[in-house]
Amino acid sequence: MPINKAEKPDKPESCDNVKVVVRCRPLNEREKATGYKMAVNVDEMRGTITVHKTDSSNEPPKTFTFDTVFGPESKQLDVYNLTARPIIDSVLEGYNGTIFAYGQTGTGKTFTMEGVRAVPELRGIIPNSFAHIFGHIAKAEGDTRFLVRVSYLEIYNEEVRDLLGKDQTQRLEVKERPDVGVYIKDLSAYVVNNADDMDRIMTLGHKNRSVGATNMNEHSSRSHAIFTITIECSEKGVDGNMHVRMGKLHLVDLAGSERQAKTGATGQRLKEATKINLSLSTLGNVISALVDGKSTHVPYRNSKLTRLLQDSLGGNSKTMMCANIGPADYNYDETISTLRYANRAKNIKNKARINEDPKDALLRQFQKEIEELKKKLEEGEEISGSETSDSEEEDEDDDGEIGEDGEKRKKRRGKAVVIPVSATNLLLSSSWCQKL
Ligand SMILES: Nc1ncnc2c1ncn2[C@@H]1O[C@H](COP(=O)(O)OP(=O)(O)OP(=O)(O)O)[C@@H](O)[C@H]1O
Ligand SMILES: [Mg+2]
Repeated sequence: MPINKAEKPDKPESCDNVKVVVRCRPLNEREKATGYKMAVNVDEMRGTITVHKTDSSNEPPKTFTFDTVFGPESKQLDVYNLTARPIIDSVLEGYNGTIFAYGQTGTGKTFTMEGVRAVPELRGIIPNSFAHIFGHIAKAEGDTRFLVRVSYLEIYNEEVRDLLGKDQTQRLEVKERPDVGVYIKDLSAYVVNNADDMDRIMTLGHKNRSVGATNMNEHSSRSHAIFTITIECSEKGVDGNMHVRMGKLHLVDLAGSERQAKTGATGQRLKEATKINLSLSTLGNVISALVDGKSTHVPYRNSKLTRLLQDSLGGNSKTMMCANIGPADYNYDETISTLRYANRAKNIKNKARINEDPKDALLRQFQKEIEELKKKLEEGEEISGSETSDSEEEDEDDDGEIGEDGEKRKKRRGKAVVIPVSATNLLLSSSWCQKL
C-alpha cells in the first residue's frame, strides 16, 4: 500500500507527572531575634523533608519525599539547573511548559521565580531563563528561525490585568476557542530580540504589579503573576517543507496563602487575602480532582487562575511546581499543609506534545510578509524604514521605528531577519519603546 505523504506521523506525546520540588528558605533575622527554632530538616541527597515539633509534645516527625529538595543554603543557579532548565529545553523544542512557585506568604516564591535581578548570583528562574533561551537561539544552525514574544499579566482580586498594557485600569476577559484553547482577549504581546529586551519588559511589568506590606512579608505579592514566553521555531522537516513548532512557557509567581492572625491584614489587604486564599483553594481542589481518580469534574472554571493554568495541570504541558516553605517552628501547620498539597500534586499526569504548525503561529505569517517585501524591493518599489543590522545601538534605534505604511521592522540577533509587523495582534508601538 502506498504511503500517503500528506499524512503526518503520530506526534510524540510524553505522559509525564508534574514534577514537584521543595525549597526551604533560611530563618530570617526577625525569626532569629524572636527566638523561633528550626522545625524543618532537608536531606538533599535523599530528597526528603522532615518536619518536627519543637515543643514538648511527643508527636513523631513527619517525612515527605520529592523529586528534588533544596535546603536553606541552596543557590539560585542550582535551583535553575536542576528544575527549570529541562522545562525550558522542552519549550525550545515546541512543548508547552509551566513553572510555578506555591507556598505560604513570605517563604520565597518571588525570590525563587524572580530573585534579585541586579545581582547575577541571586537571579531567579525567570531572568535565568532569558539567557538560556537566547543562548540556544544564537547557536541554532542552518535555516532555523525563531520568533520570541512575551506577555505579562496578574490576577488581582480575581481580575486579569495586563502588566504591559498602556491602560492599567483596564480589566481583561478570559476567553476560550476550540482551536487555541483558553486565552486572554486583548493581552499585549511583545516581540523580543535578546535577553536584555526581555529583562526591560519584565522591569516594566514589574512596576505595575500589586505588592503590599504585611506582618509576614514587607514585599508581599498581592496578586498571581504569569510571565509568558512564546517561542516559535521554523525548520525544514523530513518532508522538505518548513514547519513551525510553538512552545509556550508560563512562569508563575503565585500570591501566598496567609492567615489573617499572622499577617495582620485589614481593609484592602484583607480583601486581597480572601481572594488569594479562595483561588489557592480552587487550585487545591483542581489538584485533588485530578489525582483522586474518581472525579468526573475538575473545577478549573471556579477561578481565573485555574482556568488559565488548565493545560498546565493535567493537560498539554510539562509542568514543574516549586513548593516553598519556611523553616521556623511557628509555621509548623502551614509547612505541613504545603507539603501535603505538594505531595498530592506529584500524582498529576500531564500529556505534553510538540505543538507543530499551530493555527496561531506568527512566524509563517511574518515570513510570508518578508517574502512579499523582498519581492517589492527587487521590483524597485520604495519601502519606508531603514534596514536593520546586528549592532546593539542600531537595534535600539530600530525599536521605535514605524514606517509610513504602518509596518515595523525588527531583526533577530544572529539571524538578521527583518520582521514587518502589520495589522497583526502584536502591539509594537513607539510610545511603548520610549517608555523602556
Ligand atoms: N532562599 C532564600 N534565601 C535568602 N533569602 C530568601 C530566600 N527565600 C526568600 N528569601 C527572602 O525572604 C523574604 C520573603 O520572600 P518572598 O517575597 O520571595 O516571599 P513570597 O513567598 O513571595 O511571599 P508572598 O506570598 O507574600 O508574596 C524576602 O526578603 C526574600 O529575599
Ligand atoms: Mg511573592
